[in-house]
Formats: sequence, structure tokens, C-alpha cells
Amino acid sequence: MAQDSRFERSGVPDVPAKIEIRGLGRTFKKRGTNEPFHALSGFNLTVQAGEFVTVVGPSGCGKSTLLDILVGLAKADEGQILIDGKPISAPSLDRGIVLQGYALFPWRSVRKNIEFGLEIKRTPKRERAEIVAHFIKLVGLEGFENHYPYELSGGMQQRVAIARALAYDPEALFMDEPFAAVDAQTRETMQDELLSIWEKTNKTVIFVTHSIEEAVGLADRVAVVSKSPGRIKEVIDVGLPRPRRVSQVRDTTDFNIITHRVRELLQDKEPVRAREITSTVNVSEAIAEEAMI
Ligand SMILES: Nc1ncnc2c1ncn2[C@@H]1O[C@H](COP(=O)(O)OP(=O)(O)O)[C@@H](O)[C@H]1O
Ligand SMILES: [Mg+2]
Repeated sequence: MAQDSRFERSGVPDVPAKIEIRGLGRTFKKRGTNEPFHALSGFNLTVQAGEFVTVVGPSGCGKSTLLDILVGLAKADEGQILIDGKPISAPSLDRGIVLQGYALFPWRSVRKNIEFGLEIKRTPKRERAEIVAHFIKLVGLEGFENHYPYELSGGMQQRVAIARALAYDPEALFMDEPFAAVDAQTRETMQDELLSIWEKTNKTVIFVTHSIEEAVGLADRVAVVSKSPGRIKEVIDVGLPRPRRVSQVRDTTDFNIITHRVRELLQDKEPVRAREITSTVNVSEAIAEEAMI
């Protein structure tokens, strides 16, 4: 308990975690009153460099509030965020964000959208062109450099948004339900594309979603958040093999066991006893039983 969580899992005593969220709290006023509303309270999470962590929780549990604080768009009332062991305060381009709407600039071409952060950082023009070319290739948008967002499918726009966030080499990628607005089939394709991009970049990712399947399919670890005040209920190691594609693991027994466990946590249920999850049949029964409730 007394162990400094910065050193948790890293195995190297003097390397701090990539991201450490300590005791984060954010309080709003209830609409039309002076009463406080605790959107986040005592929120702790440690993420190691290169990890893909998903944060799953019901609507309104404070996920977007958490990401806004992480990227510096909002301030916490309590607690601290450390990146590489150093506290952060102001917003910074060092923290790449991909939001639910793609938030692309409609008047900028694909190339110009991806170049945006580099312009702000005053990266020299030649270097900019090289970086943009690299990320266009990485996300598979060669040939579309001069297209405008309205000429692209939703999936392609999302890839531009990811490339734009990655192009200025952020400390980490923070994603707030980026696939919430797309249909189920496109969503699965995009989840797999994101994994393939992530495998090539080794970026640390914090990905927020309310979909249990998405959270488990993508993550190394799933942070399960309770409804307000939002705080971590449990962090679950996923342990499904890498490189991974959500489309390939989603029908496996291990995937079902983990999603079942996350669902129980979100429903405040006691875990299924160990002997009950040793066979596929029992897990399926447990899931079927739950589906009938
Ligand atoms: N600026 C704000 N003023 C008042 N209440 C807010 C504000 N932003 C968020 N909230 C409330 O805080 C809670 C958490 O919101 P949010 O972080 O958007 O949740 P999530 O992203 O998990 O759906 C919600 O109940 C929401 O109504
Ligand atoms: Mg949200």
C-alpha cells in the first residue's frame, strides 16, 4: 500500500510512469442551484509508457471531464496529474487529443489538417512536409493529401484526426469516444485500424468509451469507473494477445469472460465465482442469464 504507484509495474525504480493521475477531483454546481455536484472524486490511475488503457463507465460518470483535465482544457479542483513524473497545469500540444466529432478544419485539406500542430510549433516547412508524408502513409491516406474533409468517409476523417494528433509527436494520445458516432461495422474496422496505427507508434493511449466490448477489445488494461462521483472501481488486466485485432478476439472465451467481469463491476455485482468461469458453457450461461434481466 505504501509503495509509490509511480513505480508500479515499471520494474525500473527510477523511471516514473508516463501518466500518473493522483486524487483527481472536479466539482460543478448543480444546474440552477448552489449545491455542489462531484463529477470526479479521488480518481487515481497510473499508465506506463506505451500502454493502451481504456476508461469505461456509464454516461455522465465524468469521462470527458477527466480527458478535458488531462489535456488541460479544464482544471481539477483537487489532485494532480504527472507526466513523466512532472506535474502539468496548462493546456499543451504535447497532449494529443482525438474527440468524438472529428473536429477537422473543413477549410483545410488532409495535408493541411495534419500539418496544423506543426505550424503552431513552428516546425520548419521542409521538416513539416516530411512528417506529414510519414503520417499520411501510416494511416493509409496516400492519394488523399489534397482532399477536403467533406470529400472523405467518416472512417477516413477519423484517420486524419488521428494523424493530426500524432503528427506533432504528443506525449500521449487521449481519445474521447472517437467512434461513438459511426455504425457498428465501421466501428469495428476503425478499432482495428487504431490498433494497427498504435502498434507502429508505441504511443501511450488513454481511450474513453462507454462500450464494454470496445474497452476490452482495445486495451492492455481497462479502468472501470463508477457513476458519479466518477472514480476507479477496478483496473482489469486484459491479457489478450498482441498484436491484436478486435474482430479476431471478440468471439473468444477469454474476451467474454473479461467483458462479463467489467459488466458486473458496472452493475455493482459480486464477481462470478472462479469455478463458474472455468468452462465456456458456464460463462455463456451466466451471460445469457444476465441478458434476460
Ligand atoms: N460545465 C459543466 N457544468 C456543470 N455540470 C457539468 C459540466 N460538465 C459536465 N458536467 C456534469 O458532470 C457529469 C460528468 O460529465 P461528463 O464528464 O461529460 O461525463 P461522461 O463523459 O462520462 O458522459 C455529468 O453529470 C455532467 O452533467
Ligand atoms: Mg463524454
